[in-house]
Amino acid sequence: MVWYGQSLLFYSLCLFFYPTMVFSQLSSTQRDAMVSLYESLNGTSVPWDINKQPNPCSWKGISCDSTSSSITGISLSGFSLSSFDFLPIVCKIDSLQMLDVSNNRLSTILAEFIRDCGRIDGLKLLKFSNNRLVGHLPKFDGFVGLEFLDLSHNSFEGNISLELEGLIGLKSLNLSVNLFNGSLPIGNSKVLEELQVSRNRFDGRIPEEIVDYRNLRLIDLSQNNLVGSVPDKIGELSKLEVLILFSNKLSGEIPKSLSNITTLSRLVARQNQFVDAIPSGITKYLKNLDLSYNNFSGSIPSDFLSPPNLQTMDLSHNMLNGSIPTNKSGSLIRLRLGSNQLGGKIPASFAELQNLMYLELENNNFTGTIPPELDSCHSLALLDLSQNRLTGPLPGELGNLKSLQVLKLQFNHLSGEIPVEITQLSSLLILNISWNSLSGSIPPSISNLHNLAHINLQGNFLSGSIPDSIVTMTTLLELQLGKNQLSGYIPWMPPNLQIVLNLSSNLFEGPIPKNLGGLDRLEVLDLSNNNFSGEIPKFLTGLPSLTGLILANNSLSGVIPIFKPWVELEYGGNEGLNKARESNTPHASEEGTPMKVNMPILIAALLLFLFLSFICLGSRHNCILTKNKLVILI
Ligand SMILES: *[C@@H]1O[C@H](CO)[C@@H](O)[C@H](O)[C@H]1NC(C)=O
Ligand SMILES: *[C@@H]1O[C@H](CO)[C@@H](O)[C@H](O)[C@H]1NC(C)=O
Ligand SMILES: *[C@@H]1O[C@H](CO)[C@@H](O)[C@H](O)[C@H]1NC(C)=O
Ligand SMILES: *[C@@H]1O[C@H](CO)[C@@H](O)[C@H](O)[C@H]1NC(C)=O
Ligand SMILES: *[C@@H]1O[C@H](CO)[C@@H](O)[C@H](O)[C@H]1NC(C)=O
Ligand SMILES: *[C@@H]1O[C@H](CO)[C@@H](O)[C@H](O)[C@H]1NC(C)=O
Ligand SMILES: *[C@@H]1O[C@H](CO)[C@@H](O)[C@H](O)[C@H]1NC(C)=O
Ligand SMILES: *[C@@H]1O[C@H](CO)[C@@H](O)[C@H](O)[C@H]1NC(C)=O
Ligand SMILES: *[C@@H]1O[C@H](CO)[C@@H](O)[C@H](O)[C@H]1NC(C)=O
Ligand SMILES: *[C@@H]1O[C@H](CO)[C@@H](O)[C@H](O)[C@H]1NC(C)=O
Ligand SMILES: *[C@@H]1O[C@H](CO)[C@@H](O)[C@H](O)[C@H]1NC(C)=O
Ligand SMILES: *[C@@H]1O[C@H](CO)[C@@H](O)[C@H](O)[C@H]1NC(C)=O
Repeated sequence: MVWYGQSLLFYSLCLFFYPTMVFSQLSSTQRDAMVSLYESLNGTSVPWDINKQPNPCSWKGISCDSTSSSITGISLSGFSLSSFDFLPIVCKIDSLQMLDVSNNRLSTILAEFIRDCGRIDGLKLLKFSNNRLVGHLPKFDGFVGLEFLDLSHNSFEGNISLELEGLIGLKSLNLSVNLFNGSLPIGNSKVLEELQVSRNRFDGRIPEEIVDYRNLRLIDLSQNNLVGSVPDKIGELSKLEVLILFSNKLSGEIPKSLSNITTLSRLVARQNQFVDAIPSGITKYLKNLDLSYNNFSGSIPSDFLSPPNLQTMDLSHNMLNGSIPTNKSGSLIRLRLGSNQLGGKIPASFAELQNLMYLELENNNFTGTIPPELDSCHSLALLDLSQNRLTGPLPGELGNLKSLQVLKLQFNHLSGEIPVEITQLSSLLILNISWNSLSGSIPPSISNLHNLAHINLQGNFLSGSIPDSIVTMTTLLELQLGKNQLSGYIPWMPPNLQIVLNLSSNLFEGPIPKNLGGLDRLEVLDLSNNNFSGEIPKFLTGLPSLTGLILANNSLSGVIPIFKPWVELEYGGNEGLNKARESNTPHASEEGTPMKVNMPILIAALLLFLFLSFICLGSRHNCILTKNKLVILI
């Protein structure tokens, strides 16, 4: 909805210029101009054919007025045009209202173009975005009727002072994604509605005069080097809908006057240096607010979360203290309050938020228990309460959150057993309940979590053995069980484990079981700080993806087998282990064999590659198709 308003101007202009099918004659001047335009574009990918379609009004990208007696719009977007010779020809069409040459490879706007097109009073839209324009911005003399100027995505550089002064009718200015520096240009058009200058190098302050441009609906100053504060009077921009300020060096307070703008729906001030209290009231009409990565302090105003339109709110990475306000908007979809100094209990009233999908309260000072009422937040996909001071049990009710994909509760003081209900979270991808005080055993039904990719249970007091059912968790990539009190038989492991299998710092003993074999994708295996004994089994040297093997502090003995050179092996604290001598011939030959076996495969692969390249070079079109067929054949 927000962006709809922004583009309305452009689309209404486009609609207005839509070509009509009524045939009538262009003036000879216009026809001649179009013929020379046609000739100067001969050899490019512009698909015009004067023989098949003698009337220029029916050429692709050309719009004419309703009687087809004059050209009103020329759109040559996306034809990889690099020669700018055609541009002055366009200016001979004095009825032109819209010129779009975006998405080409133009490098210059010729002075001749500025001179000639500047005289066309009816020219309303100029779109040069996504070209290769360089150098200083040309001075736009004339162009008294220009309403829409888009120069975004080019490589213009230097400062802007008087170059836009003449554009007194401008409604939309887009200078985004260039290399402009110096102070922020706002031009001279008091009817300006959209000002977009993001991703440049503008510095200095936001000019106070910006508040005189009373028609502004959209201001995007993001990703520049702006300093100083936001003008206090900004609240006088009574038509403002979107204000985007992120990634600058703005400081001071957020002006309270913003709360006066009834149309404001989106405010993004992330990554600046704003300080002090967040003014109450500024969310009154907002839909989206992002004040993250600043230095706001004090508490969250009590009315801040309650306005009915509010959908997303990000206050993370500030220095806010106090507790979460009781009243919250039922429209909330995302609430991010992480990395502040918020405290108190997590309010049970979150239960009323039926649309809430993302609740992120991590790295604060919350105390008390996790409210079981959270189970009524049916839409919840991400719940991050990690790094707080939460106590009590992990409520089984959370098992009702059928949409939950990420559950992060690590670094709290949760106690009691892992409730079996948690294993009903069928959408879960990440389960991180590490570094709590959970006890009891791992429920065998954990294997019901058939989408789970990451399990982190490390740093608890879990005991008993790992359930046999774990082998059925074929989506599992990471299994962190370190620093618990697990013991006993080690079952077969999920075959696709990749990132790490960590059994470190538990009570395992006996020989390293062969059930750890066959993990063809496993990169890191950590068995340290247990009481494994016997020899290091040979099959470990055959794990093809292994890069790290941590066996430190066990009771292993015998000769260390030879691993591939890229395997980092830690084996300290095993009194009985001996290093193999370099001249150990049997191992050396074992190392050599796979290479010999692989050589023919390598050669075959190389030949196939050459063959494919040959086919692809032969015909660019068939390339993908041919490849697919070949892949299927293989
Ligand atoms: C377009 O250029 C080709 C040569 O590149 C030429 O043969 C042809 O006559 C040109 N057509 C027009 C209409 O100029
Ligand atoms: C602005 O950019 C121009 C050209 O890129 C450069 O010569 C000039 O020093 C820059 N000015 C400032 C204040 O950085
Ligand atoms: C813009 O840059 C030019 C040099 O490139 C400099 O002479 C001029 O003073 C600058 N103008 C402003 C307003 O900074
Ligand atoms: C301005 O340019 C940016 C970057 O190209 C683009 O995302 C935005 O939609 C443009 N705005 C308008 C109003 O054309
Ligand atoms: C809001 O607008 C009213 C009336 O224009 C004005 O009196 C008041 O001071 C404004 N509030 C803020 C916070 O600027
Ligand atoms: C944030 O503000 C505090 C004082 O309130 C100050 O000590 C700290 O340096 C500031 N941090 C940043 C990144 O500005
Ligand atoms: C919270 O909402 C209730 C009912 O809508 C209202 O009575 C109360 O004043 C509000 N509290 C705050 C702090 O805004
Ligand atoms: C919150 O921080 C402010 C300073 O920023 C301090 O004055 C106030 O006492 C703190 N409040 C709480 C509840 O810790
Ligand atoms: C957390 O709260 C305790 C007291 O409740 C306080 O001593 C401590 O400083 C707080 N920590 C942070 C990071 O706010
Ligand atoms: C889980 O928590 C640990 C801290 O124990 C952290 O290092 C890890 O990145 C987290 N993993 C995921 C997938 O959230
Ligand atoms: C394995 O778990 C232990 C104990 O939690 C931890 O200290 C260690 O860093 C982990 N190892 C790897 C490779 O993740
Ligand atoms: C480790 O296991 C061996 C038997 O393999 C046993 O003799 C020893 O006592 C165990 N050490 C500990 C600390 O449990």
